[in-house]
Amino acid sequence: MKARILGTGSYLPERCLTNDDLAQWLDTSDAWIRERTGIGRRYVSEAGTAEMAVRAAKAALENGGISAEEVDLILVGTMTPDYFCPSVSCQVQCALGADRAACLDISAACSGFLFALSTAQAYISSGMAETVLVIGAETMSRVVDWEDRGTCVLFGDGAGAAALQAGETGILAVDMGCRGSKGMALSCPAVPLQNPTERARYEENSFIRMDGQEIFKFAVRTVPDTVRRVLQAAGIPAEEISHFVFHQANRRILLSVAKNLGIPMEKVPMNIERTGNMSAASVPVLLDELNRKGELVRGEKLVLSGFGAGLSWGSLVLEW
Ligand code: ACO
Repeated sequence: MKARILGTGSYLPERCLTNDDLAQWLDTSDAWIRERTGIGRRYVSEAGTAEMAVRAAKAALENGGISAEEVDLILVGTMTPDYFCPSVSCQVQCALGADRAACLDISAACSGFLFALSTAQAYISSGMAETVLVIGAETMSRVVDWEDRGTCVLFGDGAGAAALQAGETGILAVDMGCRGSKGMALSCPAVPLQNPTERARYEENSFIRMDGQEIFKFAVRTVPDTVRRVLQAAGIPAEEISHFVFHQANRRILLSVAKNLGIPMEKVPMNIERTGNMSAASVPVLLDELNRKGELVRGEKLVLSGFGAGLSWGSLVLEW
């Protein structure tokens, strides 16, 4: 059996910060941010990650005609949980009343939704689960340093979800990978180590640190490779793909990836202008927007691809 997406949902906060808003306290400009990233604004949430995840999940279940009682497994890709414990997925289970579900958060940053989808495929194809709810949810606003113009302009908050069930078609091939040796190119420290015998060894703050150029180079090299590999594994040529739903990190990265792969930009949807980089939420929010606009036709083949901190990447080919 294969994991098939039956429904999608998403939630974006009401409050929005434009580039001009940021320029009120940062030495930056709308022109700089747009030119270097393609971002015009981003959402910032008053709600936590779990609350956004629940809203997206409810919408996905409703869209797919699946009840909460049917769900066997809830997977949440996130790097910004509200608590170390309970997990976001357990909070979602409680809010939905999905009492039969096992719950697991997956920490793979911007690749989190893809790693969660591939886990859903593994559970479903092995027969360990029949109905899986996969969510990508982030409150990136809580981990960026709002005084650091090199990072805070990039990120936004949001949540997206997909409800999957076992079927004859669905996810056709996956390609996942990590390069831990480059991990510190994008880091976000946890609570400092401190106990009666050990002095604090890590940095004091918990904000994102990033070597932007290193990440940029990683993305433009790695994403074409993973997409080629996953297409080959599926035995499907790029021309047969109707949409390449990429993680929305930077417009220039996506232009470069599309050029490298020889795919027309009409097949590379983008919402980064409105949302910024929502890490694990990027791909499912964009997927839901396409679905609700009626742009996804059953039987068509899609590529989904995420990449980012870890460093990590994950791609899959699916039949919609
Ligand atoms: N506004 C104005 N100036 C800025 C800003 C800003 N927001 N940010 C940096 N600058 C300045 C720098 O200080 C530097 O000034 P200097 O020349 O006086 O030293 C100058 O702009 C150039 O800085 P660079 O870092 O070289 O700029 P670059 O062209 O590399 O663009 C960017 C930076 C946009 C971060 C780019 O490297 C990038 O997009 N990298 C990818 C990072 C990414 O996508 N991260 C997301 C998380 S991971 C993921 O999702 C894949």
